This record gives sequence, C-alpha cells and structure tokens, in this order.
Amino acid sequence: MQNFKNLAAATILDAVKEICGDPPVSAEEISSFLEYPPNPEMGDLAFPCFRLSKALRNSPQKIAEMLADKTKTFRYGTTEAAGPYLNIRVSKTYLAENVLTEIEEKGDSYGSSGSGKGKTVVLDYSSPNICKPFHIGHLGTTVIGHSLKLLHQFEGYRCVGINYLGDWGTQFGKEIAAYKRWGDRKVIEEGGVDELVKLYVRYNNECEEHPELKDEARAEFHKLETGDEENTELWKWFVSVSLEEYQKTYKQLGMEFDSYKGESFYTDKMPAQVEKLREMGLLKLDDGASIVDLSEYGMPPCLILKKDGSTLYPTRDIAAAVYRKQEYDFDKCIYVTSSAQSLHFAQWFKVIELMGYDWYSGLVHVPYGTVSIDGEKLATRTGNVVLLRDLFRQSIDKVHEIMKEKNPELAGNEEVAEAVGVGAIVFYYLFNNRIRDINFTLEQALSFDGSTGPYAQYTYARTCSVIAKAKEAGIEAEGGECTHESEEALLKTLSRFGEKVEAAIGDYEPSVITRFIIDVCTAFNRFYRDCPIVTAETDEQRRFRTRLTAATRQVLGTALHLICIKTPEKI
Ligand code: ARG
Repeated sequence: MQNFKNLAAATILDAVKEICGDPPVSAEEISSFLEYPPNPEMGDLAFPCFRLSKALRNSPQKIAEMLADKTKTFRYGTTEAAGPYLNIRVSKTYLAENVLTEIEEKGDSYGSSGSGKGKTVVLDYSSPNICKPFHIGHLGTTVIGHSLKLLHQFEGYRCVGINYLGDWGTQFGKEIAAYKRWGDRKVIEEGGVDELVKLYVRYNNECEEHPELKDEARAEFHKLETGDEENTELWKWFVSVSLEEYQKTYKQLGMEFDSYKGESFYTDKMPAQVEKLREMGLLKLDDGASIVDLSEYGMPPCLILKKDGSTLYPTRDIAAAVYRKQEYDFDKCIYVTSSAQSLHFAQWFKVIELMGYDWYSGLVHVPYGTVSIDGEKLATRTGNVVLLRDLFRQSIDKVHEIMKEKNPELAGNEEVAEAVGVGAIVFYYLFNNRIRDINFTLEQALSFDGSTGPYAQYTYARTCSVIAKAKEAGIEAEGGECTHESEEALLKTLSRFGEKVEAAIGDYEPSVITRFIIDVCTAFNRFYRDCPIVTAETDEQRRFRTRLTAATRQVLGTALHLICIKTPEKI
C-alpha cells in the first residue's frame, strides 16, 4: 500500500502532465520536495511550486492555482492554492480506509518498507574492555548500537551484531601478574569482575613505587602471547568472569549478540594486512614505528606497528574489517563508539581505502556524546565510575517505591519494575540527539509526565486496558466510522511511522523513533480525553475507536521494541 506522501506526489505528477504533457520531474522528486507545513491549519503537506516555475515558465502562484484546479478529483484528500504553495490535506477516507486497515493487515511489520531485503549489515557495538567495569559510558554504544540493529532488522536487512570485546593487550599481563601475587580464586568466583578490577588497580598503584613490576607484567603478557598454558587458562577465565557480569546487563536490556569475537581473535590475522601495507609501499618508518602517512588527508598518521613490532588498536580494526568483509560480505559495517574515537575511525577507514579495498565506503562510524548524572549520588563500588548495573538497580528500586503508591496491585513485581526502571534510563538517553552530551537525573527519567519512558509505557498499558474492556463489552473491532478530529490526528501520527523508521536508519539516529513515540502518546492521550471509547454513543464509534486503540497499541509496541524498551501490559 502507498503512503500518503507518495499518493499526493503521484496526483501532482498527473496534474503536471495535464498542464505540460512531458513532465520535467519524476514522482520521486515531487515526493522529496513535499514539506510538512509548520502549522497544521495549513494542511498536512505542502508543495513548493517554485520548484517547477522554471520548467513550466510560470510564476509559483500561477502554478499553485493550476495544480489546485487539476487536482480537484484527488480521491484521498483536498488541495488548495496558497500563494506559491499547493496545500494538501489528507482525507478521513484515506486515514480510515488505508492507514487503519494497513496497520491491521500488516501487524508487527507495519512501518517496514522491506528496503533492506537482500542486504547485510554488520554492527560493532557495546564492546567493553574485559576486566574493567561496565560503566555509564557504555550506555550509549550499547543502546544506540542495539537499536540500530533492531531498526535494520525491521527494514529487512540481515544483521550481525558483534561484541568486539577488548580482550587483548598488555593490561592482561598486569592482571595475570596481579592474580599470581595476591589473587584468590574463591574471592573472584564470588565477587566477579569487581575483584578483577581491584587486582588491576592495586597492580597499577604498586607499579608506581616498584617500576620493576611493569617488566613482570610484560613477561606475563609475552607468555600469554606465546601460548603458555597456565596464562592462557587464566586469561580465558578472566574473560568468562567479565562476560558473565556484562551478560546480566544485556539481559536486563533484552539483547543478545551474534558474535563475541574480540580483539584477541585477530592476532593471527594482522600480519597479512601489515604485509600488504608494506608491499603497497604505504608503510613509513617514523622513529622506529611503522605508520601510514595521512597528512595529505589532513589527519595525523595512522599507527600500525610500535617500535618493538607489536600491533596497535588500528591494526586490529583493519584486520577485523577485512575478516568481516570476507565472512559476512556486508553492505555496511557500522561502528558505534563515543565521539572521542572519531579520529581513530576516520584514520583507519582511510587506510582501508588506500589499500584498494573498494568496500571502504560501506564503513560507517556512528559517534555519540558523553553522559553524566546529576542530582542523585549513585552508590558505586569502584571509586567514582558509575556502573551501569548500579544505575539500573537504583532506578528499579525507585520504581518499586513509586508502584507501592501508584499501583499497589503490582507492588513487588520485579519484572515490571525492571522493565520500567531500565526502560526509563534507555528512553531518556535515546530521546536526545546522539551526538549531544547529556546530563540527567533519575528523577526526571522516572517522571510519569513529560517525554519519558514511564509515560510511554503507561500509555501503552492504557491501550491494553481499553482493549480488554472493549472485549469484555463485546465490541467488535471491525468497520465503524471516524467522526472526531482527535481520531483523525491520531491516525495521521500513526501514518508517519514508516517515514520515521527510514529517517532513523538514514541518520543512524534512534531518537527519531523515541520522539515519534512521544507524538503517538500525545495524540492517543488527547483522543482518549476527547473521545469515550467503550462508552461512546454509537456502535459505529465504539467499533472505530476500539480499532484505533488496537492500532495505537500495535504501533507503539513495535516502536518501543525498536528502541530496546519492554512493554508490560500493566504498570
Ligand atoms: N573496546 C573499545 C573501547 O571500550 C571499543 C571498541 C569499538 N569497536 C572497534 N571496532 N574499535 O573503547
């Protein structure tokens, strides 16, 4: 089924054909010229006629009049010339016959155009460094990354979500050395990654006074690199202890990865790429280190090998990208990290291009700003880093308190409290344009009024309860009639879902969906305030409004899931 924008564009194209025979524009172009007027009084869409004035050799005003005249018979709306614009208003018939039925027919896939069919996207996100705490700084990469995966999947792309664990490097020499000196297996088995962090911090502190410890750590890492059995076992164990901890957070967010191939996996894949760089004459020696000079492109050099011949972060990323291209033949490979890493990605993307890999243009870096938390003092176990797990726990506890007052029936329900508590943080975070730095208080995120997760989940739960009541009252969700302007406004909002999905993917910006969710909630709550549903006067109204509520529930549910938010039926 066509969306309204395309239908309007096709009608304008027909009118242009009538005016001048051979049309100077295509339907797609017309569709891209169409604007949403700032003021809904002016209509639902506006066509700026100056776009055609050259080709039609006429003033925009005159063209608007001619177009209005030729589009009188537009089946799904009305048109009107307003100065240099043709204003278009969508009709109730279109909304009721097309939008509502389309939502009912398509169900869970409503909003997807399927434009990703046959294409593959690899997404590299979350990717924490093993033996380190999973902190608030990881919130961005984790939820933006996962939401982008869900959005692409929804559009039909084959998606591979990769957790590129930071599981290799000299820090593991320190961790092993520290464990051998002071470690206790039992303590770590019980305390998990926190205990690993403690050992690491202690080792670093002692290194300051006893620099010889650094040599010890280096020796342990060397043993690990050369396959020493004991060290390999320890390293594997550290990885699994850390992952176990991260998994708890992933589970609260309802997410899984398709691959956990971390940095260590690429150890034996780097030499071939280094060799290729050397053969192509791209490597230069700089004070003993091997670099790729990028001064021609206005960037500092990309470091490939240290003085001692060891590899670096960019070296691994280059080898990993080549491997992923071979393994998945991706169309796009998306990396979600803090904007502090923007230069790193720009540099090695350039190196991939210089190496002659023609798929370099499919590499995409999606950066985001910093997060800080104000107001609440968060209880943390490791210094001043705010752990994601602690933030989630604090939020869930607060929800328990709120529910005791608001909805005693659900008091103590951990599943719902978790969905709301975690959802509130994710929603608050994803409401912002990703590149902006954000600072928030739990209080704001948990408010039931305003543009928040709890407000959206509450609205969703409201649609569920209305549907349950309608069912009890024996109202058939069929037919009916659109009679109120709040119904019309709600349908119009729902009809924009597909466009929003496309925009969110196009800009790698989940906040487009978060904001759309608030638009839907606002329109639904207005409708709910203005229009009795189960107790409406006529049977036609009752049916139509029940259908509309079900459609809202459908769209809201899909949209919330696309930004990693769970949808309890009662909150
Ligand atoms: N482990 C890195 C960090 O915590 C992020 C990895 C991002 N992905 C990549 N392919 N470089 O900073």
